[in-house]
Amino acid sequence: MKSVAVLHASQLVTLAGPERPRVGPEMSDLAIIRDGGMLIRDGKIDIIGSSAEIKKKATDCEIVDARGRLVVPGFVDAHTHPVFAANRLDDFERRARGETYEQIAAAGGGIWSTVEKTRAASEPDLFEQGKKHANWFLKCGTTTVEAKSGYGLTVEDELKILRVIRRLNEETPIEFVPTFLGAHAVPREWRQSEYIDLVINEMLPRVASEKLAEFCDVFCERGYFDIAQSREILAAAKKLGLKLRIHADQLTNSGAAKLAAEFKATTADHLEKTDEQGIAALKAAEVQPVLLPGSVYALGSTDYPRAREMIDAGLAVVIATDFNPGSSPTVSMPMILSLACTQMKMSPAEAITASTINAAYSLGRGDKIGSLETGKLATFSIFDCQDYRELAYWFGFSQMHSVYVRGERVMDKN
Ligand code: NIG
Ligand code: FE
Repeated sequence: MKSVAVLHASQLVTLAGPERPRVGPEMSDLAIIRDGGMLIRDGKIDIIGSSAEIKKKATDCEIVDARGRLVVPGFVDAHTHPVFAANRLDDFERRARGETYEQIAAAGGGIWSTVEKTRAASEPDLFEQGKKHANWFLKCGTTTVEAKSGYGLTVEDELKILRVIRRLNEETPIEFVPTFLGAHAVPREWRQSEYIDLVINEMLPRVASEKLAEFCDVFCERGYFDIAQSREILAAAKKLGLKLRIHADQLTNSGAAKLAAEFKATTADHLEKTDEQGIAALKAAEVQPVLLPGSVYALGSTDYPRAREMIDAGLAVVIATDFNPGSSPTVSMPMILSLACTQMKMSPAEAITASTINAAYSLGRGDKIGSLETGKLATFSIFDCQDYRELAYWFGFSQMHSVYVRGERVMDKN
């Protein structure tokens, strides 16, 4: 395979550092190289340093001249629901009239309305819509996406969604990391306890034996799955060798963060309502919080999670889009950086760490992606700006210039 030399990044944001998720003041250290460059061989970073140094070693290479633009690792979006049919425009309009997420769900909107449409959609149609979403992610500089099922809620429809995720992983430039979320809601036609039996005794064994997911997630929330029910499902998933992520304390403080700690889950996600005790429990069990300010914004709430307290407590914070048709219809990691800084008072550097290296570790891929260091994949984006803070500062449009995966250009702004 050919060699590529990247030259003249105004700032080459490497995030070089310890081989583990970053905590506390480490989250502010982006290890930037000014007028930086990289030599790439076989899709991996061979040498990284100043442009002058790389230029000397770049013989018989394709040259990518960044011309003074910003170069950062591809964003790693560690929480999304990208395979669904249609949209939720009616919910959106109702929320604008003042109805809440819970009221809309009770009136026939919400997750259930997407489930009905997703069940009716064919696998090829879901794949086509998923491919469109993959393209949107790339346009915002995202190259790795955790992807949950959860809009099927029958054995066959959940497997259908997970197969679509597998195909998206194989046929688009994005690496999709699959998570089984059969416990997203109880379908209308089932009694709660019987549906939990179905998840545990039929869905989970099929998902595990067909190797369709790396993680299992549960929507632990009033009206969805309570602590005891979530515990049952998570225990069954763990037994089958799946790692755990949990939708925790999004709408109410139900003690789900503590449940995540009890299981030593990889992540606890949302945490809008988590208090000091929940934060302390996450710290003691080394669970990574995944904060999703896009869903707070899109639901018209102002109840953002306590990011500052979490960083001060030494948690390896991650931020993600929560891309889904109901509570967070965005794929834009730059928009999430903006919200992290303006609403959760994270610094731009902390937000970049949370959306790259920390997110990569939360997906078990911190040794391959999330930072630009010798031996790691040459997966990065060039943005049409000069300073990393501009990623979070300008909002509402994409500054993406071009995106590279394993040293190959997969997207540019035209
Ligand atoms: O993360 N909280 C549960 N799941 C999604 C919402 C899904 C939907 O509304 O369709 C979330 O916000
Ligand atoms: Fe979610």
